Amino acid sequence: IGRTALRSALRTPTSARLFSSSAASNRAVAVLGASGGIGQPLSLLLKNDPLVTQLRLFDVRLAPGVAADIGHVNTPAVTTGYSPDGPEGGLEKALEGAEVIVIPAGVPRKPGMTRDDLFNTNASIVRDLAKVAAKVAPKAHLCIISNPVNSTVPICREVFKKAGVYDPKKLYGVTTLDVTRASTFLSGISGAKPSETIVPVVGGHSGVTIVPLLSQAAQGSSVQAGEQYEKLVHRIQFGGDEVVKAKDGAGSATLSMAYAAAVFTNSLLRALNGEKGVKECAYVESPLYKDQGVDFFATPVTLGTDGVEEIHPVGKISSEEEKLIEACVPELKKNIEKGVSWCAENP
Ligand code: NAD
Ligand code: LMR
Repeated sequence: IGRTALRSALRTPTSARLFSSSAASNRAVAVLGASGGIGQPLSLLLKNDPLVTQLRLFDVRLAPGVAADIGHVNTPAVTTGYSPDGPEGGLEKALEGAEVIVIPAGVPRKPGMTRDDLFNTNASIVRDLAKVAAKVAPKAHLCIISNPVNSTVPICREVFKKAGVYDPKKLYGVTTLDVTRASTFLSGISGAKPSETIVPVVGGHSGVTIVPLLSQAAQGSSVQAGEQYEKLVHRIQFGGDEVVKAKDGAGSATLSMAYAAAVFTNSLLRALNGEKGVKECAYVESPLYKDQGVDFFATPVTLGTDGVEEIHPVGKISSEEEKLIEACVPELKKNIEKGVSWCAENP
């Protein structure tokens, strides 16, 4: 889902990309937090995406330098860097006319921390960026990467609601890395190509709220029930911890996340440009578990010219997966409520 165009964009020779007719529409994409571990490689991948025509890079540090560097890549996206006191202007300038805003701003985990431990720092960073987005680019599509995603996405909803510009079809928590990991780990067991190993991952983006639906993958049956299944589920749910541990205090996943966010952004742009049937898993406002107090839930979503076009149900799942969802829902509810009540106290 959604990877083919990015992959072929990455493979297409530069000269062909320069004259690519696929950049049918004028698409301005802003990255907030563009100088960070995710922000830099993500910005580079977006510069390499023929569907991006303008690339606005904002960060509290270094963004003009990152933009000057990336801007030398000979692809069409016109790249500009913005910093709070830079000559190009600050955040408001960066967001003027932006159609897609991708937010990886905020601090990453260190070993021993949960994503929720980032809440105190990242909640206010995301709230403040969302406030300016609601004012300057109220119709833009907002793709949230900053953790804890389960809470930062509801925070954005509250900010946009307060500004009177909330559109549930245009707010996404980016959970593509979970889908990417599930595909990689399962194909490592089954031997099938990762590109043909599609595992829907539903729920949220932390620990037990990450629910891989291996029973829906064509290769799912290559995983034996019992210990092998449990190990694989655990690896998908705690893949982030694996990277945090390996980086040993230097942060969390950045490069695989940049790849995943570039895939998601490319899918969104293709859908905005009118391509039919573009489907990605994303954490969006969803009716599926609202009766259990869960307003946001990731499932496969069909994207269209206005954003979320159709939210697909979880579908047929195994009894193991039913148990995983039972564990996910109360935790997700807590994370969402935390974001919403924090916003009420810290408008
Ligand atoms: P990083 O520290 O390397 O980069 C963060 C960047 O944000 C820095 O350049 C910093 O200057 C910038 N920043 C801080 N406050 C800002 C503000 N107010 N406005 C603009 N920029 C600001 O961190 P990273 O490794 O890139 O991770 C960023 C976030 O993404 C973390 O919260 C991390 O947990 C999260 N993350 C999410 C996923 C996911 O799957 N959704 C995956 C990996 C990481
Ligand atoms: C991930 O899944 O890699 C990210 O959410 C970063 C983290 O803290 O694990």
